[in-house]
Amino acid sequence: MKRDFILVGVLLVVAVFSDAPWGARGSAHCKLTNSGELRPHSVSITEFGAVGDGVTLNTKAFQNAIFYLNSFADKGGAKLFVPAGRWLTGSFDLISHLTLWLDKDAVILGSTNSDDWPVNEPLPSYGRGRELPGGRHRSLIYGRNLTDVIITGDNGTIDGQGDIWWKWFRTGNLNNTRPHLVELMNSTGVVISNLTFLNSPFWTIHPVYCSFYEIGGELRLVFWMNSHVTVQNVTILAPHDSPNTDGIDPDSSHTVCIEDCYISTGDDLIAIKSGWDEYGIAYARPSTNIIIRRIIGETQSAGIAIGSEMSGGVSEVHAENLRFVNSSVGIVIKTSSGRGGYVRDIYISNVTLANVDIAIRFIGHYGEHPDEFYDPKALPTIERITVENIVGENIKYAGFLEGIEGDTFLNICLSNITLNVTSESPWNCSYIQGYSDLVNPETCESLGEKLSPQNYSDCYHLSNHLRSSINQKKGAWFLSW
Ligand SMILES: *[C@@H]1O[C@H](CO)[C@@H](O)[C@H](O)[C@H]1NC(C)=O
Ligand SMILES: *[C@@H]1O[C@H](CO)[C@@H](O)[C@H](O)[C@H]1NC(C)=O
Ligand SMILES: *[C@@H]1O[C@H](CO)[C@@H](O)[C@H](O)[C@H]1NC(C)=O
Ligand SMILES: *[C@@H]1O[C@H](CO)[C@@H](O)[C@H](O)[C@H]1NC(C)=O
Ligand SMILES: *[C@@H]1O[C@H](CO)[C@@H](O)[C@H](O)[C@H]1NC(C)=O
Ligand SMILES: *[C@@H]1O[C@H](CO)[C@@H](O)[C@H](O)[C@H]1NC(C)=O
Ligand SMILES: *[C@@H]1O[C@H](CO)[C@@H](O)[C@H](O)[C@H]1NC(C)=O
Ligand SMILES: *[C@@H]1O[C@H](CO)[C@@H](O)[C@H](O)[C@H]1NC(C)=O
Ligand SMILES: *[C@@H]1O[C@H](CO)[C@@H](O)[C@H](O)[C@H]1NC(C)=O
Ligand SMILES: *[C@@H]1O[C@H](CO)[C@@H](O)[C@H](O)[C@H]1NC(C)=O
Ligand SMILES: *[C@@H]1O[C@H](CO)[C@@H](O)[C@H](O)[C@H]1NC(C)=O
Ligand SMILES: *[C@@H]1O[C@H](CO)[C@@H](O)[C@H](O)[C@H]1NC(C)=O
Repeated sequence: MKRDFILVGVLLVVAVFSDAPWGARGSAHCKLTNSGELRPHSVSITEFGAVGDGVTLNTKAFQNAIFYLNSFADKGGAKLFVPAGRWLTGSFDLISHLTLWLDKDAVILGSTNSDDWPVNEPLPSYGRGRELPGGRHRSLIYGRNLTDVIITGDNGTIDGQGDIWWKWFRTGNLNNTRPHLVELMNSTGVVISNLTFLNSPFWTIHPVYCSFYEIGGELRLVFWMNSHVTVQNVTILAPHDSPNTDGIDPDSSHTVCIEDCYISTGDDLIAIKSGWDEYGIAYARPSTNIIIRRIIGETQSAGIAIGSEMSGGVSEVHAENLRFVNSSVGIVIKTSSGRGGYVRDIYISNVTLANVDIAIRFIGHYGEHPDEFYDPKALPTIERITVENIVGENIKYAGFLEGIEGDTFLNICLSNITLNVTSESPWNCSYIQGYSDLVNPETCESLGEKLSPQNYSDCYHLSNHLRSSINQKKGAWFLSW
């Protein structure tokens, strides 16, 4: 059995390497192996006594429906249909081979009573709750150790009613870290699509440890699914002043594809993470092979963020065709001494910015440690970051690029960047080294060395017109999409 999995993996890798590693520019789509359209069994939540009046608590109905549908898991799985209505519920758990389908005008509403969101253990890679020591409230929709789960519909809505949580946060009345709207842990074959997510209490969609699968006690990569997590064609909204309402946070996860989303929230639209200081270093689960494309959004924070929790490492991130408006920052890498880990092999291209304070930002002194036991000598490695084909209008600063003294960020490559900047000193760089080409306004001295063929191989994945003569250095795990 074990050998079969490994063999399938090898065959797929061979097949996949004959394709272009990141698909055709601009037109590619996440590859879905499970469309979920073929679930042979379907029930409606109303068959389990649910009442869609926005007042009746339906937690038991969701739990009972899903318990019942578990008996179809080995028969092709099942669909739980949520019709038009306002379905108030506390947190409930998904199962494998399930499609949760929200019809047009169906709204799942999160309970405003914190007792309906039980408290889970902290994540081992964080060592404690992100906001408070101790546990974390379980997400409204939660799944663990699952395979083949689809959350979709006809633009139905999942509304966390986060207002009450933001109030508890602001008045210091929380006892545990706030819940996410959706969290999938250690799961594969997850698809989240065609829905609207509103007012999450905390980060909105949180795939965590969706990476390796334990087979016989050993960790092995799963190859039979193309993507562990796909988020496609969703709208995520929260007020711009709502605290920590990130959009999508892939965390210690492998092979995640996010595309065609509109996100407008109070914090980072997409934030890639991998654990916190000594806990993240010890747990050592990277986020890698992450595709992001065709995202439009608006935030008081950043469009694409990496970190600040990145202690398990982040690599092989490809983000393209993005448009961020009315935001504080376009692209940011946040880290600190004590984090350890790495951020490397990051490629960001074709970004349009309008009315953004800082186009590109590196923060080397983010701070925020889980406790006093972190090792201040654990320095992060930040290298091979390529940012190209960026245009911006009404930008205050082009780049605040701050490395760490004694820990220079290396091979930062900027190419074809044109920003209409209002500040007199558009760039401010410290402890970084790299190259630039066609950057306007002219970049700082430490990136002043012009990209030339001799140096192309220092830069990660430069576009073809710049590096056509150079052999592509490919990572071992590139999959096609
Ligand atoms: C992940 O899920 C697999 C399959 O259900 C299970 O064997 C493994 O123990 C889980 N690991 C964790 C850390 O939850
Ligand atoms: C997931 O797997 C882990 C590790 O095997 C186990 O401790 C946990 O109880 C499982 N959780 C669920 C919900 O299956
Ligand atoms: C996106 O989702 C909406 C429903 O939310 C659907 O009508 C539309 O066809 C979807 N678009 C794509 C490209 O899947
Ligand atoms: C889905 O609903 C949201 C919120 O009502 C709306 O902003 C969005 O345009 C809708 N999407 C589609 C594809 O209809
Ligand atoms: C925190 O605990 C106190 C005391 O048990 C309780 O009154 C309060 O409702 C709790 N707060 C939240 C947000 O659950
Ligand atoms: C989203 O909805 C469109 C239109 O109904 C459908 O074609 C597409 O397959 C759906 N996407 C997913 C991933 O379910
Ligand atoms: C750049 O991104 C925009 C969407 O933001 C898209 O319309 C355009 O086709 C992309 N250009 C390339 C060359 O992929
Ligand atoms: C930004 O916000 C302003 C004021 O809310 C709005 O008029 C404008 O359309 C938004 N978008 C851009 C790209 O500036
Ligand atoms: C520079 O970037 C812009 C915006 O993405 C793009 O339209 C243009 O083709 C790029 N130029 C080169 C030489 O790649
Ligand atoms: C920046 O935008 C302003 C207003 O649109 C325009 O007048 C100015 O020429 C632009 N500057 C550059 C350098 O493109
Ligand atoms: C650059 O940033 C540093 C802080 O990182 C600040 O002290 C310095 O004044 C800035 N320089 C300019 C020219 O803005
Ligand atoms: C870039 O290549 C040139 C020519 O080989 C070399 O002189 C220069 O030192 C290289 N730059 C760096 C930072 O390695």
